[in-house]
Amino acid sequence: MGNDNMKVITIMTRKGGAGKTTLTRALVSAAMSQGKKCIVYDSDPQQALARWARKLEIDDPLFTIEHLTVADELAAKTDEAWEEGSTDFIFVDTIGAAGSWADDLAAASDALVVPMMLSDDDMEITKDTFNWYVGLKDRTDDPKALPSFRVVLSGVPAKQSVAETEVEERAVKSFPVIPEYFMSRKQHKDASSYGFLHKIAEERRQSRYGLVRVHAKHFDEAVEEAASILNDILEAS
Ligand SMILES: Nc1ncnc2c1ncn2[C@@H]1O[C@H](COP(=O)(O)OP(=O)(O)OP(=O)(O)O)[C@@H](O)[C@H]1O
Ligand SMILES: [Mg+2]
Repeated sequence: MGNDNMKVITIMTRKGGAGKTTLTRALVSAAMSQGKKCIVYDSDPQQALARWARKLEIDDPLFTIEHLTVADELAAKTDEAWEEGSTDFIFVDTIGAAGSWADDLAAASDALVVPMMLSDDDMEITKDTFNWYVGLKDRTDDPKALPSFRVVLSGVPAKQSVAETEVEERAVKSFPVIPEYFMSRKQHKDASSYGFLHKIAEERRQSRYGLVRVHAKHFDEAVEEAASILNDILEAS
């Protein structure tokens, strides 16, 4: 019995350090907090996410992570997961560079998610990534079968500089931007040291120290934000 609700979400941008791995981890956390089963393919040779999971010995029935070395294997892997029927989401984290592998990942994805920080460099390289996607539409036999493409403004500070606001305005005009922003939060740094956001929230809630329990709400907020981004992605796909 195939799971027709299964979604394949690939987080990519040609820009290094735009927040791909952080966003992937947050989206997976949001999905898992809703009881959804996630498979993550780490296709970045640096293996940041796979190494993170190994180092922290993350062990959760809702979560599996594997290295994806050959991009065109994604299609077979998603077919397998679809047939097996119990996976809700497949997330793919990628390297911050261009390559023909991107075409193969796109062909097997329902949604492409492109994090972009509010800088001129990010703006320029997001343009290149968007142009690649537009070109993909021209190169493919069936443009309707292509995944959706959405930019997520990432690492957005609570107080933006004039220059950041200017980049934000240009991005919103130039690309399909998801309404919910991926804000800069120190909770994401904690997640990279300690584990999934929703798990940290859970642990903090159970602490016998009132001061620690209060922190849980900041992690809950980060999970809620990611859940809202995930919803926007699903609506677009
Ligand atoms: N929303 C956020 N809040 C706080 N810090 C963030 C956020 N997003 C990203 N960062 C920080 O920015 C840096 C780059 O993020 P990340 O590693 O996720 O980017 P990446 O696109 O995966 O990079 P690479 O191209 O090297 O794989 C990291 O130090 C990360 O902690
Ligand atoms: Mg990364």
